[in-house]
Amino acid sequence: MKYNFDEIVPRRGSNSYKWDTAEDEDVLPMWVADMDFRTAPAIIRTLEKQVHHGVFGYTKVPQTYYDATISWFSRRHNFTINKEWILFTSGVVPALSAIIKALTDPGDKVIVQTPVYNCFFSSIRNDQCEIISNELICQDGTYTIDFADLEQKAADPKVKIMLLCSPHNPVGRVWTKEELLQIGEICLRNNVIVVSDEIHCDLIYESHTHVPYASINEKFLQNSVTCIAPTKTFNLAGIQVANIVAANKEIRKKIDKALNINEVCEINVFAIEALIAAYNEGEDWLEELKRYLYENYEYLKDFLSEYFPQLSVIKPEATYLIWVNCSAFKLTSKEITNILIEKQKLWVNEGTMYGKAGEGFIRINIACPKETLIKGLDRFKEAFK
Ligand SMILES: Cc1ncc(COP(=O)(O)O)c(C=O)c1O
Repeated sequence: MKYNFDEIVPRRGSNSYKWDTAEDEDVLPMWVADMDFRTAPAIIRTLEKQVHHGVFGYTKVPQTYYDATISWFSRRHNFTINKEWILFTSGVVPALSAIIKALTDPGDKVIVQTPVYNCFFSSIRNDQCEIISNELICQDGTYTIDFADLEQKAADPKVKIMLLCSPHNPVGRVWTKEELLQIGEICLRNNVIVVSDEIHCDLIYESHTHVPYASINEKFLQNSVTCIAPTKTFNLAGIQVANIVAANKEIRKKIDKALNINEVCEINVFAIEALIAAYNEGEDWLEELKRYLYENYEYLKDFLSEYFPQLSVIKPEATYLIWVNCSAFKLTSKEITNILIEKQKLWVNEGTMYGKAGEGFIRINIACPKETLIKGLDRFKEAFK
């Protein structure tokens, strides 16, 4: 291994949302979706250079920023992006808020596939739209799409957007091309624009391949908006950067206007440099990271199957967010997370944060050194022994 993911980097006292929110310093946080690893050395070097320059004035986004993004998606995801399709902003959530604002009127409806990333709900509500849930089907430890239900819901003329989480947080699915084709055909038939949040697209395991929704065909490209970012991949959430890819000129114009109205149409000097270094020089770090994360998943799976065989760990095809079915405990998600915090000071996410469909589940963030993971799992065992 070239990179040391075993290193414990203390984060308490660094204003970390994950580590410094709990007042009790013994709380072990395995909740919010960032990683406890240092980012890739190439990114740190580039940021150090920027700091030494010492002048942090208003900043232009250079051609090299677009080149790095375009090259990464072409190289790694077989997705050809034109420079003029790209709109940059300070994060995927600000992007989603602006996109929904741009493409809906108050009172319109947006489809999501629950259980799903909780900020989808707030972004939809903040834009005065209604959340329509196309609940995923959980069968034999894996999740699939209820296409009949999707077809029926998309037929409502008030539905303007389908907000796709691809790959999916928290259920860890990498949607196949066949699944995306079915989604796309339903949305095209019903004049529903697909907004595909692909922030997790680089953290894909084993034999799975991420298919960018917009890369499938020209019709899908023109009827969609894709959100991408290097922030989950390279642990840069605090740097705040994301790109919106909108090939359709009319759609792009509306989103650009909404980004301007929301005043989220600038990115900072560090975000630019970090993105360029990540996409140009971060590849081998990412490959090692993925191996490390998968080993962590395997450790967790073996641990839970040894001590709690009644629980079922959903096998992640992507992401370091592990979705665990704890319904055998016959407790609510809230009761489970309360027991973990109160008895063992272990903080994980309750499944119901992601919608009613998450009842009985918890989400555990395993993007940490193995030593931390082992500590967390031992606490889990003590809490429920
Ligand atoms: C699906 C998804 N989209 C967006 C985000 C957050 O994006 P950002 O930090 O760029 O706003 C997350 C973070 O967990 C996520 O899981």
